[in-house]
Amino acid sequence: SSDEESGEEYLFKIVIIGDSAVGKSNLLSRYARNEFNMHSKATIGVEFQTQVLDIDGKEVKAQIWDTAGQERFRAVTSAYYRGAVGALVVYDISRRSTFDSIGRWLDELKTHSDTTVARMLVGNKCDLENIRSVSVEEGTSLAEAEGLFFMETSALDSTNVKKAFELVIREIY
Ligand code: GTP
Ligand code: MG
Repeated sequence: SSDEESGEEYLFKIVIIGDSAVGKSNLLSRYARNEFNMHSKATIGVEFQTQVLDIDGKEVKAQIWDTAGQERFRAVTSAYYRGAVGALVVYDISRRSTFDSIGRWLDELKTHSDTTVARMLVGNKCDLENIRSVSVEEGTSLAEAEGLFFMETSALDSTNVKKAFELVIREIY
């Protein structure tokens, strides 16, 4: 395209990681298609969506990759992370075990990607306030300690979904 010839096209790969059922696939479908599925099945392998944004008058394409949280359904790890410039590291605010796993996901990300990757810690399902098991403060302090951005989101009611993706994309850009 003429964009490519003039060097004005930007394509950024972003990966979503975190334990099974934290809502990775629904965050992506909410962001890319404004869809939510209450009964979504566990992801097998890898899926991705390309989202085109206008940032300061430039066309930016974000290719957002989603894989399984469950080890047995995951794609080849190194291939999944290859070329990623942004990452959303997701836990479920209603399930503490998913927050406890964040350290392991960050280790895997560090092993397989560049140190310059823009990283956002995402506490998803913030609509489930009545069964919250991880406080906002805990999320904030982990993010501070690890040097991550932080946001609580809800793929169900759309809270902060667009914001979370676009903050990472802007940071890369
Ligand atoms: P894997 O593909 O197995 O790694 O899971 P995942 O992280 O992609 O989770 P998925 O998006 O499939 O969501 C798991 C379940 O949580 C589904 O029943 C969703 O409807 C539900 N869910 C996802 N996001 C939210 C949310 O923000 N709020 C609530 N209440 N439920 C959500
Ligand atoms: Mg999934």
